[in-house]
Amino acid sequence: MGARTLGQPRTDVESCESTQSLIDTSLPEGALVVADHQTAGRGRLGRSWDAPAGTALLFSLLLKPPAERNPREISLVAGVAVADTIERMIELAVQLKWPNDVMLRRTKVAGILAELRDGAVVLGIGMNVNQTREQLPAGAGSLRTASGREWDRETVLQSLLEDLTSRYLAWVEGGLDAVYDGLAPRDFLRGRRVSVDGTSGTAAAIDREGRLLVEVAHGDLRPIESGEVLYER
Ligand code: BTN
Repeated sequence: MGARTLGQPRTDVESCESTQSLIDTSLPEGALVVADHQTAGRGRLGRSWDAPAGTALLFSLLLKPPAERNPREISLVAGVAVADTIERMIELAVQLKWPNDVMLRRTKVAGILAELRDGAVVLGIGMNVNQTREQLPAGAGSLRTASGREWDRETVLQSLLEDLTSRYLAWVEGGLDAVYDGLAPRDFLRGRRVSVDGTSGTAAAIDREGRLLVEVAHGDLRPIESGEVLYER
């Protein structure tokens, strides 16, 4: 990809079903689709992702990582970049709930969907920016609800594209180790009682392969590769 910032070529649409579907994988790495509104936004595990028009950041980015990298790690890399951006802008600690949720003040402020397609990764990010409390589902927050002010979405997007570029290039070069400094200290689940697809215990850490380590009995750590985490608040 070279040294340029991810985000080119860029397509902006007023409304679409999902920016994920508008990414053409024959485009060069870094291609970006941004929508003001989605009518059928997709979340992980078949869920939907909704936001009122004009309030959120909704975009998809085309990535073509080298074969030696595990593309499943991209959700974590992107989460680190989103956390970097939010912390720099609003000076509140951001946490990452493995594997793909960005948490601010114990509410979900952004979600990440990394889909493998044609050997590439279509990375979708939805960030709640200017939604009011009433416009958000239970358990969700926005930059506005956390900071008490509205944000310019284009400024947030430019900042995030810079952080995504820098964290992604570091990962391409050095793998998850190279971004681990932004991941391990922000582990939202660490120390919490969790249950993931039948495995229950205490979340101990995210390891250097990006797996969630769950302590099921004293000293017995089970690595979880993927799944839906239920946790006690
Ligand atoms: C999740 O938390 O389940 C992931 C949510 C990802 C939502 C974004 S919004 C932009 C892009 N287009 C989609 O349809 N989904 C992703």
